Amino acid sequence: MSAVAALREVDVAEDASRDEVRAFLASQEQKSLLRFLTCGSVDDGKSTLIGRLLYDTKLIFEDQLATLENDSKKHGTTGSDLDFALLVDGLEAEREQGITIDVAYRFFTTPKRKFIVADTPGHEQYTRNMATGASTADLAVVLVDARQGLLTQTRRHSFIASLLGIRHIVLAVNKIDLVGYSEEVFGQIAADYRAFAGDLGFATITPIPISARYGDNVIARSDRMAWYAGPSLLEHLEDIDLGQGSAQKPFRFPIQYVNRPNLDFRGFAGTIASGSISQGDAVVVAKSGKPSRIKRIIGPRGDLTRAVEGQAVTLLLEDEVEASRGNALVAPSARPHVADQFAANLVWFAEQPLLPGRSYILRTETDQSTATITDLKHRVNVNSFAQEAAKSLALNEVGVVNISTQAPIGFDSFVENRATGAFILIDRITNATVAAGMIQHPLRRAENIHWQALDVSKSSRAALKGQEPAVLWFTGLSGSGKSTVANLVEKKLNAEGRHTYVLDGDNVRHGLNRDLGFTDQDRVENIRRVAEVAKLMADAGLLVLVSFISPFTAERRMARELMGEGEFVEIFVDTPFEECARRDPKGLYAKALRGEIKNFTGVDSPYEAPEHADIHLQPFGRSPEDLAIEVEDWLRERGYC
Ligand code: ADX
Repeated sequence: MSAVAALREVDVAEDASRDEVRAFLASQEQKSLLRFLTCGSVDDGKSTLIGRLLYDTKLIFEDQLATLENDSKKHGTTGSDLDFALLVDGLEAEREQGITIDVAYRFFTTPKRKFIVADTPGHEQYTRNMATGASTADLAVVLVDARQGLLTQTRRHSFIASLLGIRHIVLAVNKIDLVGYSEEVFGQIAADYRAFAGDLGFATITPIPISARYGDNVIARSDRMAWYAGPSLLEHLEDIDLGQGSAQKPFRFPIQYVNRPNLDFRGFAGTIASGSISQGDAVVVAKSGKPSRIKRIIGPRGDLTRAVEGQAVTLLLEDEVEASRGNALVAPSARPHVADQFAANLVWFAEQPLLPGRSYILRTETDQSTATITDLKHRVNVNSFAQEAAKSLALNEVGVVNISTQAPIGFDSFVENRATGAFILIDRITNATVAAGMIQHPLRRAENIHWQALDVSKSSRAALKGQEPAVLWFTGLSGSGKSTVANLVEKKLNAEGRHTYVLDGDNVRHGLNRDLGFTDQDRVENIRRVAEVAKLMADAGLLVLVSFISPFTAERRMARELMGEGEFVEIFVDTPFEECARRDPKGLYAKALRGEIKNFTGVDSPYEAPEHADIHLQPFGRSPEDLAIEVEDWLRERGYC
C-alpha cells in the first residue's frame, strides 16, 4: 500500500477501512486501481457526485436503495428525484456508529478499472481530512460550483493536493445546469483554473462540465452540452494513464516489528512501502548501513520468491543484523537519507498555532522522534503562492520549515517517495495531530556538524566541586516570589560551599534574550534558550537555579527532558493571581490591567499551572525565608545537597 501510514494511523477507523481496502483489492486483483478524492467547498456537490457515481455504477445494495427512496421523500431537497447527498451522508452515519470517521473510503468497480474514493468533508477546518485522503490518492476531483467559480477553498485544496503529490486533477465544473449549460461559463472557469494551477506541477488538468444532480457527463456523456467534446467523468477516470507505478521505485521496507518466536527464527515484519524484493536480493539496514541478503520472504499464505509494494510480508535475512521498529531495510544502491535536520512543507491543522521552538512528536511510517521547528522560512499564500514572512502558522496554513529531530530518522524526499517522505506532527500534551509534512531534503549543516569528543566529563567536573549537578526550575506568575525564593536558596547553598548559578528571567532578557518579547512564540524561544543554557551549566557541574515564568507545560517538559535523569526539579511558586496583582512589585499588573501592556501573563496571556511539580510551594501567608527552607529540606532529603 502506498499509503502514508503515518497519516492514516490517525483515525481508529482507518484500520477498519484498511482491512476493507485489502479485501476489496484481493477480489479485484487483475484490474488496475485508481485512488482518488473529491474536494472543494462545502456546497459544491461532492456528496451528490459520489452518490451518483456509486448509484449509477450499481454498487449500492438494494436495501440501501430502498432507504434512500424513503429518505428523499422525507427529507430530500430535490422533489421526487433521489437525493444522492442523503445517500452518502447516510452511509457516513452508518459507519459513524461508535467511532468518529473523518475520511470515508468508498469502493466501486467498472469493467475497466476499480476505484477507491476518499470522501472528505469540505469545511475550512477539515483540511486535515482532505490531506489524509489526498495522501494516498492518484487523482483529485476538484469540484467547483459553476455559479461561483474558483474560491479560496478550491485553491487551498488544489495546492495541498499538489503538495501531497497528486499528479492528476479533474476540474469538475458542477451545477452546470444552473448556468444554462453555458459553454462560456465553463470555458472561463477552466481558463481561470489553468492560470492558477499552472505552477503546481500537475501532469494533467482535465476540466469537465457536469451536473451531479442530473447525471450530465458523470457516467455517460450528456446530450445537453453539444459543445463539449471531452469524456465523461467516469470515462476519464477509467482511461487516464497514471504512468509509472511505485514498484519501480527503490526498495523500502519500514520495519513494523521483529518477529522472534524462538532463537532460530528472526523475521522482520512490515509492509513494503515501495519497490520490490526477491529472494537472494542484497539489502542494507537504513540507519546502520549493515548489509545482508534476503533468505526468505514469507507472505500470509506461505513463502514467496518475490514481493512488491503494498504487500505485508516477513523478511528473513542471511545474517544476524540489528534492526528494529523505526528502522528500515532498503536497497543498497539507493539508500534513504538518515539525518536529524531537514527542510519540509508543512500543512497546519490545529486551532492552536504552530510555535517554532516547541517540541512536537514527529511520526513517519514507522519511526518516531521528538522534533522542533527550528525555522519557519515562510508561509505560502494559497491564493497567490506568494512567500510571506511569518512567525507562526495558523489553522489550514501552509509553510516551509526547517525541522530538527532529537534522533536521526530515515527518509526520502517526498517527491521521490510519498510513502517514506511524509510525516505528521503530534501535540505532546493533547495528542492531537497538528500537521502533515512533506520532506524536501536533509540540511547540509546537519551533515557537516559533528559532536566534538571532550575528555573531561560532566561527572569529573561535578566531582571536583563535590556535588551532583541539578537544575532547580522555579515557575510561577510574575511577582509570585520565584526570584526572591531562588535568591534565598542560592544563598544557603553558597554558604554550604555549593557551586551555583541563578538564571533569572528579567536578567537573561537583558542580554542573551533581549531580542524576545512576550508573544507565545517568543516565550517558547525564551524558554528553549534558557533550558539549553541551564543544560550547559549542569554539564559544567553546577547547581542551576532557573527563575522564569515559563507559562507553558510543553516547554517545562521539554526542559525536563533535556536534563539527565533526576536532574530536573520543578518548583511551582503557586501565588494566586490576585495576590501577585496586589503586590505588583514592578507596577506591571496595574499597567496590564489598564491595557497598557499586551500579552501579560494571567491577564491576556495564559499561565498553565504545573500539575505534577516536584515541589509545590504555597506562599500565601508564609515568609520567603520559610519557603526557601522548605526547598532546601526537600533537596537535602533527596540527596541533592
Ligand atoms: S516567560 O514567560 O518568557 O518565562 P520571563 O520569566 O522571561 O517570562 O520574564 C518575565 C518578566 O518580564 C516578568 O517578571 C516581568 O517583570 C516582565 N514582563 C514584562 N512584560 C511582561 C508580560 N507581558 N508578561 C509577563 N511578564 C512581563
